[in-house]
Amino acid sequence: MNHPRHFLDLWKLDGADLRVILEDAKARKAARAGWPRGRIDADVPARDRTLAMIFEKNSTRTRFSFDAAMRQLGGDVIISNAVDMQLGRGEPIEDTARVLSRMVDAVMIRANTHADVERLAMSASVPVINGLSDKGHPCQILADLMTFEEHRGLVTGRTLAYVGDGNNVCASFIQAAPKLGFKLNIAAPAIYYPDLADLARAAALQGQVTTTHDPREAVAGADCVITDTWVSMGDTDHDERLEALEPYQVDAELMGLAARDAVFLHCLPAHRGEEVTDAVIDGPQSLIWDEAENRIHAQKSILAWCFGKI
Ligand code: CP
Ligand code: NVA
Repeated sequence: MNHPRHFLDLWKLDGADLRVILEDAKARKAARAGWPRGRIDADVPARDRTLAMIFEKNSTRTRFSFDAAMRQLGGDVIISNAVDMQLGRGEPIEDTARVLSRMVDAVMIRANTHADVERLAMSASVPVINGLSDKGHPCQILADLMTFEEHRGLVTGRTLAYVGDGNNVCASFIQAAPKLGFKLNIAAPAIYYPDLADLARAAALQGQVTTTHDPREAVAGADCVITDTWVSMGDTDHDERLEALEPYQVDAELMGLAARDAVFLHCLPAHRGEEVTDAVIDGPQSLIWDEAENRIHAQKSILAWCFGKI
């Protein structure tokens, strides 16, 4: 079997690869400024390629941005919810991988459990991309870092603060920190702490990742403040989460403790009045719409990397 370039979590990529993807995304975005959204990039890096997308969970941004991305790269897509596939009736994910590998050139999956993303990749002979699992959201974090860099320059040496649930989004930031050399301050309550294995691995790579229960401490002087929903897809302890995470709301007062030119990021969907106030998410420091758009640009470069074009 050949060795496809999977994009499963950020641990598996070198910092140099992440940098190549980020720079390609910025260049590709700049090259098509003012173009209609449906026009194909001049180099057509996905010519004759088809991406299959499998969704075990809901999605707006990931679904539309990967579809738009493949069209802009000159390729095609086939999209299905897992529940409509035999996968949803118990067909092994390994068999799904082998079959799709005979039909398409890459597979993106949004999965309930990260182990299933890994199993899919183990049995696939084409690249597999993680479009969110319980353990990470790597495509999102590349779009986020691209957005930060567009507005504030290189992320290397800068300080990012993640406030709230130590979830999949937080995990991918932890993984990116040592790879791209930024400082990450995380504030989370003890019961919704980030993954300890991710924290240990970041430390082993000399990553500058700190954790605290105090959001004010995490945000102090930061160049970027990030939060995410308090109740992720699949979480069942809704009421407990809202209670435990209530002190972690990003409001104007908390933003005021960050650097004067700090920016705010949120992967969306947002719950205004819970993890973030209207004043912050809809305020002048918020980059959320660029961040959402950049899902397309970052994923085009992830796809180009998977196809060996960059
Ligand atoms: N941020 C993100 O992944 O959004 P969707 O759930 O809409 O895909
Ligand atoms: N942490 C959220 C992100 C949604 C894009 C979730 O997993 O539901």
